[in-house]
Amino acid sequence: MTIGIIGAGNIGQAIAKHLASAGIPASIANNRGPGSLSSVVQKLGAGITAAEMKVAAKADIVFLAVPWSAYEDAVAGLAPWGGRIVIDAMNAASLGPDGLRPFDLGGRASSQIVAERLTGARVVKAFNTLPAAALASDPKADGGRRVLFVSGDDVSARQEVAHLIDRLGFVAIDLGDFEMGRRLQQFPGGPLAGINMVLFP
Ligand SMILES: NC(=O)c1ccc[n+]([C@@H]2O[C@H](COP(=O)([O-])OP(=O)(O)OC[C@H]3O[C@@H](n4cnc5c(N)ncnc54)[C@H](OP(=O)(O)O)[C@@H]3O)[C@@H](O)[C@H]2O)c1
Repeated sequence: MTIGIIGAGNIGQAIAKHLASAGIPASIANNRGPGSLSSVVQKLGAGITAAEMKVAAKADIVFLAVPWSAYEDAVAGLAPWGGRIVIDAMNAASLGPDGLRPFDLGGRASSQIVAERLTGARVVKAFNTLPAAALASDPKADGGRRVLFVSGDDVSARQEVAHLIDRLGFVAIDLGDFEMGRRLQQFPGGPLAGINMVLFP
C-alpha cells in the first residue's frame, strides 16, 4: 500500500507525522514543489518523502489536505483516479477578518462534491474534525485512543480508511454515508466537528 498527501500545511504534516511514527512510508506534496519541503520532511521523520503532486496523487490512498478554495486547482490534471481512495480532510470554510466563513454548498455534503469532481476516486471524509494541534498530538491520550470520524458512500473504502486510522493509533467511528457525514462531521455545523474525543477501553 502506498500513501500520498496533497497539502503540506498543518493538517498534511500532522498526518505525515503519525504515518512516520507508525512506520508507514508516504509522499507529501504542496503547491511550491518538493524543493520547498526539505526541512519539513527531515523534521517529519524516516519514510516521509517530498514529491511532486502527480507522484503523491498516484498512491493507493491519497490525503487531500489543502484549503477548500484551492482544491479544484490542486487536483486539476491528477486524474485518472482509477478506484484509488482519496481521504478528504478538508473543511469548506475560509478564514477572513470576521473569522471562519463557510462556502455556500447549497446544502450538499462537501465530500460528495469532491467525489463528483474526482471521477473514479473512492472518497472518504476523515481527519477533518480535530483542530490541527489536537490531530498532531499523541492519539493514545491518557491511556485511551483519540477518535476520528469516517463517512462516505463507499463502504469498503470506509473500512480501509478505518483500518489505517487504527494502525495510526486512533480509533475510527464510522458514521455512514456522505449525508450522515454532512449532518454530523462536516464543519461548520456538524456537532462532531471540533470535538476532541478520547475513547477509553
Ligand atoms: N488547520 C486546522 O485546524 C484544520 C482542521 C481540520 C481541517 N482542516 C482543513 O484541512 C485543510 C488544510 O488546512 P491546513 O490548516 O493544513 O492549511 P495550510 O496550513 O494553509 O496548508 C495548506 C497546504 O495546501 C497547499 N496548497 C494550497 N494550494 C494548493 C494548490 N493549488 N495545489 C497544491 N497544494 C496547495 C499549500 O501549499 P504550500 O505549502 O506550497 O503553500 C499547503 O501545503 C483545509 O481544507 C482545512 O479546512 C484544517
